[in-house]
Formats: sequence, C-alpha cells, structure tokens
Amino acid sequence: MAPRSFSSSSSSSSILAATICLAFILHQAQAQLSATFYATTCPNVSTIVSNVIQQALQSDTRIAASLIRLHFHDCFVNGCDASLLLDGSSTIQSEKNAGPNVNSTRGFDVVDNIKTAVENACAGVVSCADILALAAESSVSLSGGPSWSVLLGRRDSLTANQGGANTSIPSPFEGLSNITSKFSAVGLNTTDLVALSGAHTFGRAQCRVFSNRLYNFSSTGNPDPTLNTTYLATLQQICPQNGSGTTLTNLDPTTPDAFDNNYFTNLQNNQGLLQSDQELFSTSGAATVSIVNNFASSQTAFFQSFAQSMINMGNISPLTGSSGEIRSDCKKVNGS
Ligand code: HEM
Ligand SMILES: *[C@@H]1O[C@H](CO)[C@@H](O)[C@H](O)[C@H]1NC(C)=O
Ligand SMILES: *[C@@H]1O[C@H](CO)[C@@H](O)[C@H](O)[C@H]1NC(C)=O
Ligand SMILES: *[C@@H]1O[C@H](CO)[C@@H](O)[C@H](O)[C@H]1NC(C)=O
Ligand SMILES: *[C@@H]1O[C@H](CO)[C@@H](O)[C@H](O)[C@H]1NC(C)=O
Ligand SMILES: *[C@@H]1O[C@H](CO)[C@@H](O)[C@H](O)[C@H]1NC(C)=O
Ligand SMILES: *[C@@H]1O[C@H](CO)[C@@H](O)[C@H](O)[C@H]1NC(C)=O
Ligand SMILES: *[C@@H]1O[C@H](CO)[C@@H](O)[C@H](O)[C@H]1NC(C)=O
Ligand SMILES: *[C@@H]1O[C@H](CO)[C@@H](O)[C@H](O)[C@H]1NC(C)=O
Repeated sequence: MAPRSFSSSSSSSSILAATICLAFILHQAQAQLSATFYATTCPNVSTIVSNVIQQALQSDTRIAASLIRLHFHDCFVNGCDASLLLDGSSTIQSEKNAGPNVNSTRGFDVVDNIKTAVENACAGVVSCADILALAAESSVSLSGGPSWSVLLGRRDSLTANQGGANTSIPSPFEGLSNITSKFSAVGLNTTDLVALSGAHTFGRAQCRVFSNRLYNFSSTGNPDPTLNTTYLATLQQICPQNGSGTTLTNLDPTTPDAFDNNYFTNLQNNQGLLQSDQELFSTSGAATVSIVNNFASSQTAFFQSFAQSMINMGNISPLTGSSGEIRSDCKKVNGS
C-alpha cells in the first residue's frame, strides 16, 4: 500500500471516527424525554403517584405545595436528577442540608411512599427524578391547577452537589436581576420566571424568609414600602419582632391551598409575601410587570404558561440513556 494511500485512509478513518464521536455526542445532547417512556414498562405510574398524593393530602393540606418545590430545588442543581433526595453519607454532602433546603424543604417521606408504591407495581423501572416530575404535576392538578403531559425518561444521579444548591437556587432576599440570572443560567426566561413564581399560590413560608421587610427594611428604619399596609399589620402580628423565625404563614393570603391566579392579583394589591415575589410587579420598568398583569387578568393564560414552563424546567439537563441509574431507594445510591 502506497504511503499516500495509507495516509489518506488514515485521515478518512479519523474523519469517520470523529463523525461517529460527534453523532454520539449529538445523540446524548439530544436524548429526549418522552410522555410515553413507561407506556409498556409501567403504564399506570401517573395514577399510582396521584393516589399516594391524594392519600397524603387527607392529613396534610400543605403537601402538594411541598412536593412541587422539591422538583424545583432538584432541577436547579445539576438538572432534574433526584440529586436533592440523597441523604448524607461518607461520600455524599446532602443537598438537604444546603441553605435553601435545611429546615425548609419537606415531603421526603411522601416521596418514599410513592417510590414504594411504584416499585410494588413495576420494580426497578421508574426513576426518582421522574417521580418528582410526576408528583409536581399531580400536586398542581389535584389543587385545582392545570394538568399537563409529563415528559419522562430521566435517570437518577450518583452524586449530590450541596455547594451548587447553596449558589444556584434563588434566595428571596436577592434582587430581580440576580434571580433572573439564576433562571437564565438553567435556560429559563422571564416568562418562565413569572409563571413558575405563580407556584407561590399555595404553600407556606417561615417568618425568617420575609420578616426583614416588616420593621427595618434595608436599614431604612421602616417597613418595605411596597408592602400593603393592611397586609403589613397582619404580618407584624404573625411575626413579632422577637418572635420565632420558624412560624409559618400562607404564601397566598386569599386562597392558601388552591392553585389559581390569585398570586398575581395579590402582587397587584401589594400583597406579595416574599420580597422576590413583590419585585416581579413593583420593579418599575421591569419586563416582568406586564407578564404579571397578563396572568392576573387571565387564569387561562397563567395555566397555559405554567404548564409549558414546568415542562421547560423539567427538561433541565436530565440524565438519560445509560447515564446514572434507577435508584431502588431514592435516599441512596444503589449498592451503598
Ligand atoms: C423565583 C424564585 C423563588 C424564590 C426566591 C423562592 C423562595 C421560596 C421561599 C423562601 C419559600 C419559603 C420556604 C420556607 O419558609 O421554609 C418558598 C416556598 C415555596 N416555593 Fe418558592 N421560590 C422561588 C421559586 C419557586 C418555584 C419556581 C417554585 C415551583 C415551581 C416554587 C414553589 C414553592 C412552593 C410551592 C413553596 C411552599 C412550600 C411548602 O409549603 O412546603 N418556588 N419559596
Ligand atoms: C391502575 O391503577 C388503578 C388504581 O390504582 C387500578 O384500578 C388499575 O387496575 C390499574 N391498572 C393497571 C393496568 O395496573
Ligand atoms: C434546624 O432546626 C433545628 C430544630 O429546630 C435546629 O436545631 C437547627 O439549628 C436548625 N438548623 C439550621 C441550619 O437552621
Ligand atoms: C451550604 O450552606 C450550608 C448552610 O448555609 C452550609 O452549612 C454548608 O457548609 C454549605 N456547603 C457548601 C458545600 O458550600
Ligand atoms: C447578586 O449577584 C451579585 C453578583 O453575583 C452578588 O455580588 C450579590 O451579592 C447578589 N446579591 C444578593 C442580594 O444576593
Ligand atoms: C420565553 O420562552 C417561551 C418559549 O418557551 C416564549 O414563548 C416566550 O415568549 C419567552 N419569553 C420571553 C420574555 O422571552
Ligand atoms: C435599622 O437597622 C440599621 C442597621 O442595622 C440600624 O443602624 C438602625 O438603627 C435600625 N433602625 C431602627 C429604627 O431599628
Ligand atoms: C426585642 O429584644 C431586644 C433585646 O433582646 C429588646 O431590646 C427589644 O426591646 C425587643 N423588642 C420587642 C419589640 O420586643
Ligand atoms: C391593599 O390590599 C387590599 C386588599 O386586602 C386592597 O383592596 C387595596 O387596594 C390594597 N392597597 C394597595 C395600595 O395595594
């Protein structure tokens, strides 16, 4: 074989190798979630998830809110991979102990109950990451909100990222521009930010996450001027100056457990509980203001955007194909 022909064959085979390699990378990057992922392997999975949540709601009206928040806090850290659910161990620094989660996220016991029920029906098939996505949808629809077709096929992580949870999950004390950047960092835009913030139409918050607004806001010696004065008086009663920071109140003072668009009419009335909520409406000139007004005037527009944005959030860097694993216990990596 002539050297020239050898060299040409070598370069064409390296082009071939590079092409295969590129095809592989593209395939991985484009690995798509699908609504029918468990159609043959666990056809009843959504019903099973929904039944466990209905059961849990009987004794805990807050659980629907707590469950959707778990999906959010999972997806913002290393993507929707159930990294949030791993307990601490010699090799894992649990995300449950990160600032935004410690003494705040809840519902892990209900996730375990869902996992047990799903394993009983279809063992070793459904990931914990998909259970969080399904639980989020059921929680919203059981509370009067929209339904949507949940995309599935995520796999579970082998690691957690506590430092990532500390820095990637938005804080209620940071400004709109910081929060917008954190959403944009995971591919979510301003419409997604406003729609998903509408999840604060149900659930509770502790005094410690908003009491900075009630007495001496930003060292002004006065309350946050964007707080409705009637609502301010109510909140000062609930959270006295030297009271417990862990006292709970409703995120939506009007319809605390219903998934509706009152969150947005509340913002128009200066009744957003968190600073990060009210800023969506009270930051003059912000792109969020007209979106709040749109959702306040049309629950249909809100529900449609919310469902789309939940799908967008659920698409954040999932593990698919043979990456990660299907955990048999959501709290632990298999074999650990
Ligand atoms: C936009 C930035 C966000 C910030 C700064 C934020 C912050 C917070 C805070 C501080 C709490 C109260 C926690 C406590 O007091 O223990 C809370 C509760 C909650 N958040 Fe968010 N959140 C944001 C976005 C979201 C999103 C995108 C969702 C879901 C799609 C969500 C769903 C919830 C729910 C349902 C609760 C109540 C949970 C319960 O009652 O257990 N939040 N959030
Ligand atoms: C699905 O679940 C429902 C209620 O949990 C049950 O009645 C039904 O038989 C199940 N269907 C299948 C195919 O397992
Ligand atoms: C969490 O709550 C427990 C019990 O109330 C308390 O002892 C602990 O200090 C809290 N941890 C943090 C980080 O706030
Ligand atoms: C994350 O924040 C928590 C609570 O503020 C802190 O205890 C922990 O050390 C932080 N972890 C990392 C890895 O930064
Ligand atoms: C907002 O982001 C900037 C830049 O990352 C940071 O320096 C600042 O501390 C953040 N503000 C708050 C209130 O977290
Ligand atoms: C955000 O993305 C959605 C598509 O998911 C698009 O319809 C919407 O117009 C975008 N919003 C902004 C403010 O760019
Ligand atoms: C508000 O906080 C600032 C800074 O901590 C302090 O200097 C000021 O005295 C406080 N004002 C009142 C009225 O408590
Ligand atoms: C709160 O406690 C501080 C010191 O413990 C005290 O000086 C202050 O008067 C108390 N404020 C109220 C409103 O009780
Ligand atoms: C304060 O809230 C009430 C509803 O409780 C509303 O009627 C009023 O217009 C609000 N005031 C402001 C300034 O937003």
